[in-house]
Amino acid sequence: MIRVDVSNVWGEISLPDLLAVEKDTAAAHAAVMEGTRPGNDFLGWLNLPTFEQTEEMRRIDDAAKRIRESSEAFVVVGIGGSYLGPRAAIELMYGPNYNLTRGTKGNPQIFFAGNGLSTRAWNDLVRQLEGKDFSVVFISKSGTTTEPAIATRALRWMLERKYGTEGARSRIFAITDPEKGALRQMATDEGWETFVIPPSVGGRFSVLTAVGLLPMAVAGVNLCDLMMGAAKAKKDYDLRSFENPVWLYAAVRYLLYNRGKAIELLTSFEPAFKMLGGWWQQLFGESEGKEGKGLFPATAEFTADLHSLGQMIQQGQRNLLETMVRFTPSTPAVTVGSDVKDLDGLNYLAGKTLDFVDEQAFRGTLAAHVDGGVPVIIMDMGELSDMKLGEIFYFFELSCGVSAYLLGVNPFDQPGVEFYKRNMFQLLGKPGYEKK
Ligand code: PA5
Repeated sequence: MIRVDVSNVWGEISLPDLLAVEKDTAAAHAAVMEGTRPGNDFLGWLNLPTFEQTEEMRRIDDAAKRIRESSEAFVVVGIGGSYLGPRAAIELMYGPNYNLTRGTKGNPQIFFAGNGLSTRAWNDLVRQLEGKDFSVVFISKSGTTTEPAIATRALRWMLERKYGTEGARSRIFAITDPEKGALRQMATDEGWETFVIPPSVGGRFSVLTAVGLLPMAVAGVNLCDLMMGAAKAKKDYDLRSFENPVWLYAAVRYLLYNRGKAIELLTSFEPAFKMLGGWWQQLFGESEGKEGKGLFPATAEFTADLHSLGQMIQQGQRNLLETMVRFTPSTPAVTVGSDVKDLDGLNYLAGKTLDFVDEQAFRGTLAAHVDGGVPVIIMDMGELSDMKLGEIFYFFELSCGVSAYLLGVNPFDQPGVEFYKRNMFQLLGKPGYEKK
């Protein structure tokens, strides 16, 4: 299990405080598992983890194999959970530079599109695809979200120009609603191979559907191991007591929120975790930020950001709680070398491993932040593997559900995101959005 250590929060809250929310935490957990509160029609993510390979997983693995064999590049088109989930998984497992060692048939590069409106990013993608055999997956529940819809239109035409309508057909995949929506209609009309986002699974909870699974399988993640990790997590984290790390995490962040901590800073000493932080931001931000409530989810990468945000964390407004994510060091170990001149004064570290230095940086940072009045939750993930990845996704999803119900909000809607869209559509002159 993921270990949640709350020994560095006792300066802000007490054990009796924690015990006082035991009943509420139990009720919030039960409400998620039994679907007794608003949002219960979006609990499909609870049923995704599986110990057995499903027919859908077999189809996804088969499609991934064909994509790998036929393509030097694979483009994943989507926004929100359809972008953050797969990208977070791939970067955590293979590092932020994963594309540098890819680009051949059998081992395609994986690009993301439809997650913004930048012309520079689009032109860069087109340059990257030039002269390469490539395939695309269009991911959207509705098929009408502006950013992915623009990218879908353009990439589809690029493929059809390059391979003809017939040839393009075997290189286009769609992941969408099983019945309705523009992308479903397009896929049916064009005969594209499709996978399903169950209507009972919201975008930010969709990483263990085909949304995450197809890109992960193309990247090389073993889906059976991933799902086994999630399925085991579903069993392990069903524990109804504070021995459950989900309870500890949800209850402590809730108590700290009630003590005026307005921001949760999720930090990691692992650069590959950065995008997972982005996925976590959407999960908690879109789930909790409503009715004037919610911790603002922020992220930082250590030690890099200690040289930028460190000052703010240490001595800025005392409205922060920090969750530090740790992983078991990876292998092979790296040691600091010795230098005859020792001009940088580093010889005192010669022969020590980078992990040793990292560990001391972690301990030093933890002590400094706690001394500076920032309560810190330590989250020890253990060793990274495909199984662990599945566990991490499920752990955060369940924590988010419990946490939002503790806060008294519906974790599964996002009424606020319509406001910017309405303004944008008005300015763009979209039919039906004319200014009155
Ligand atoms: O998490 C969410 O629900 C949203 O971020 C959606 O995923 C996002 O807006 C994309 O919507 P769609 O899948 O309809 O393109």
